[in-house]
Amino acid sequence: MLKKDENWWRQAAIYQIYPRSFKDSDGDGLGDIKGITEGAKYLKSLSLDAVWLSPFFPSALADGGYDVADYRNVDPRLGTLKDFDAMLKALHAEGIRVFVDIVPNHSSDQHLWFQEALASKPGSKARARYIFRDGRGKNGELPPNEFVSHFAPSAWTRSKNPDGTLGQWYFHLFAPEQPDFNWDNREVQLDFLKTLKFWSDRGVDGFRIDVAHALKKDFSRFGHEHSKKDTMTITTTGRDILFDRDEVHEVYREWRKLFNQYNPPRVAVAEAYVPSVRRTLYATPDELGQAFNFDLLGAKYSSKEFKRIVTENIALAAQSGSSSTWVLNNHDVVRTVTKYGLPDGTDFSQYLLSDGTSAPLNLELGQRRARAAAMFIMALPGCTYIYQGEELGLFEVADLKHADLQDPTWKRNVVLKRQRVFFKRNNKYINGVAEIHLEKGRDGCRVPLPWTSSGPSFGFGSGKGHLPQPLGYGPLSMQAQSKIKGSTLDIYRTALKLRKKLQTTEEFEWIKTGDPQVVHFSRKNGWHCITNFDGADFTLPKGEILHSSSPLKGRKLPKNTTVWLKA
Ligand code: GLC
Repeated sequence: MLKKDENWWRQAAIYQIYPRSFKDSDGDGLGDIKGITEGAKYLKSLSLDAVWLSPFFPSALADGGYDVADYRNVDPRLGTLKDFDAMLKALHAEGIRVFVDIVPNHSSDQHLWFQEALASKPGSKARARYIFRDGRGKNGELPPNEFVSHFAPSAWTRSKNPDGTLGQWYFHLFAPEQPDFNWDNREVQLDFLKTLKFWSDRGVDGFRIDVAHALKKDFSRFGHEHSKKDTMTITTTGRDILFDRDEVHEVYREWRKLFNQYNPPRVAVAEAYVPSVRRTLYATPDELGQAFNFDLLGAKYSSKEFKRIVTENIALAAQSGSSSTWVLNNHDVVRTVTKYGLPDGTDFSQYLLSDGTSAPLNLELGQRRARAAAMFIMALPGCTYIYQGEELGLFEVADLKHADLQDPTWKRNVVLKRQRVFFKRNNKYINGVAEIHLEKGRDGCRVPLPWTSSGPSFGFGSGKGHLPQPLGYGPLSMQAQSKIKGSTLDIYRTALKLRKKLQTTEEFEWIKTGDPQVVHFSRKNGWHCITNFDGADFTLPKGEILHSSSPLKGRKLPKNTTVWLKA
């Protein structure tokens, strides 16, 4: 059962479920809501406080579900609202709370409102919910400006009028199937309040807010800025055209009023890719309450980097009155096992494009380091996030075939290159055009989970999964690892169980080690965490050894290992 505690979220262990790849209960190749219910016992065995579900709403899957066609429903391929309620009940009964992913910046182009907008005239009420503009040029054939999208060359797509003629352009920060909402529109604002209320009333405990920093835009400058705006770089002024505008906080202050009508208040965490000094603004108690700290996602496996990031983020969290979040993996980035198991300086994007052939992967090293990093973050004050499969030591599937890829970052980042190719039939060279993909995309970390050592999809479902699993996933399955003492799963289970008992304080202090490769902190309640990143064997100080991420050498801590001590 759930404990009544308003502050349950401050030091929680939260597991991210990517529903389509978690567990498939009906054999159609897609993970589903009943699959999560079936997995409740497994989730319980990880001593979690909460799970966060990536989108499970009706979607055309142009962006793995982050293109939502109906915010208050379940994708029929994944189940029904009744299944959702049953899942919520089952997880709550195991003491696990549930976060839902809210995608407010854009909807799917299949959303009723967008379809209505396409069917309506320029200037209509229906179009005002999105961002429609006339094109430039004689016949409106040029986009309103040159903004680029994250997933496509242009952030504008020309719409078709109901009679089939070309019409206005609409704006999308991501794929063309993800039109951006106009957040100055009151109807949009009210509809999201309705969505948040809908899930809160069902008993959902919290929300992860997708691209939380992008909702408000400065439309007055849309017609004038024709430069190719780099949509990746964000300034800290609060006055950028597209991102992190000061007005976005009005939205979250209104949301907080709604969250606080519940007991315990609903919690929320912002996905805001903004410079760290601006992140705290989203995390204040009168707004979302917490914001993701993604600094470790981009960091190298390095004592210096980890130490700097922790120091900075603990200070930042204190400024906002929130606690920090620690994230090593999610559905958007290369899995840590692969990142840490590749030689220093490897270009991960190139590694994926080469199907994993551009550099040698040391799997054992990657897993060892990933476990050390995980036990390091679990001991920090604040929330620990675990992305499904991380607890199994899964590696990034780098050799997915092109035909299997689903991610729009693969499909849309294409350039055409002229090539001379030898044409066998005519025995001569001809000029052709080849498609060059600039990114392989994020499918390699979204491959279905292995539950058993064998079977058509290693127990994920009764048939094959929507993305093929590599053979190497069998020995990493839950079934295989559950039997092995010292397996990654076993180490995670023990660590998370201990963590639950030890997270009694948010106090924290660094302790000098005399070795730059060895990082030591204590939580002032006698709990010590020491990580030897890449140094010589390190003699441990006094204290009872509670747990380690890999075997110790007596009282010596080998490199790539974390130990927890009780002083
Ligand atoms: C977030 C999600 C990512 C998605 C994007 C657009 O960054 O994590 O998966 O593609 O938003 O919704």
